[in-house]
Amino acid sequence: MSLLEVDALSKHFGGVTAVDGCSLSLQLGSITGLIGPNGSGKTTVFNLITGFIARDTGDVRFKGESITGLGPNRIYGLGIGRTFQLARIFPRLTALENMLVPVRRSGVRALFSRGQWHDEKDRAMEMLAAMDISHVAGLLGGSLSYGQRKLLELAAVMMARPQLVLLDEPAGGVNPALVERIGEHILELNRQGVSFLLVEHNMPFVMGLCQQIVVLHRGAVLAEGTPAEIRGNPAVLDAYLGS
Ligand SMILES: Nc1ncnc2c1ncn2[C@@H]1O[C@H](COP(=O)(O)OP(=O)(O)OP(=O)(O)O)[C@@H](O)[C@H]1O
Ligand SMILES: [Mg+2]
Repeated sequence: MSLLEVDALSKHFGGVTAVDGCSLSLQLGSITGLIGPNGSGKTTVFNLITGFIARDTGDVRFKGESITGLGPNRIYGLGIGRTFQLARIFPRLTALENMLVPVRRSGVRALFSRGQWHDEKDRAMEMLAAMDISHVAGLLGGSLSYGQRKLLELAAVMMARPQLVLLDEPAGGVNPALVERIGEHILELNRQGVSFLLVEHNMPFVMGLCQQIVVLHRGAVLAEGTPAEIRGNPAVLDAYLGS
């Protein structure tokens, strides 16, 4: 079953066509990679799917229903979480407080107060523990290392138990040992049923985690396939070398 369908999405900024008729489909339970040279439109596709910016044309469907035109909080509440290319952490809030922001902001807090889930602080501590960063719960966001911020952001987005998470360069700028740990956390969450769309320039990381890879070039899908198929595709190499 397809969890997310992106259908002929386009977006331009002034004279720049950032996304140009992009279509892709994510299978339920999958980890799908979205790769492409700098400026090929990956982050813009994320912003369009998650409602951070409005598309010019095209449609996004989640579990068969159009979510086009909905705002970011509604979309988060429906079960699509995201992280940012540069982790968005509030430097003057503690790590634990940072965890509670997306819940309070998006209105998914109602799910806690209805007693559907246990207390939000317990849930936050549980997710910090799952990411092996319980020890930073009381530290200010601004004092965390780059890798810890990435893990905190991943923990925070899991607060509302999203079914799909869009990760924008989760390994970018992170030291190799921590990159491996981040990969393990993604796989563990995937085993628990979370699907992922993953943007990343670290090719061994993407190839190791994803079953399916979509290559974006100038805002459109250039190729799609298994890691082996993408690795052997000369058009993909040309796109990277040409940009
Ligand atoms: N808010 C904006 N205003 C103007 N142009 C933008 C805006 N956002 C993106 N662009 C342009 O759209 C194109 C696609 O950018 P985008 O950030 O989506 O690429 P990307 O694939 O994520 O690149 P990278 O790998 O470097 O993160 C680029 O030419 C970029 O300069
Ligand atoms: Mg980007």
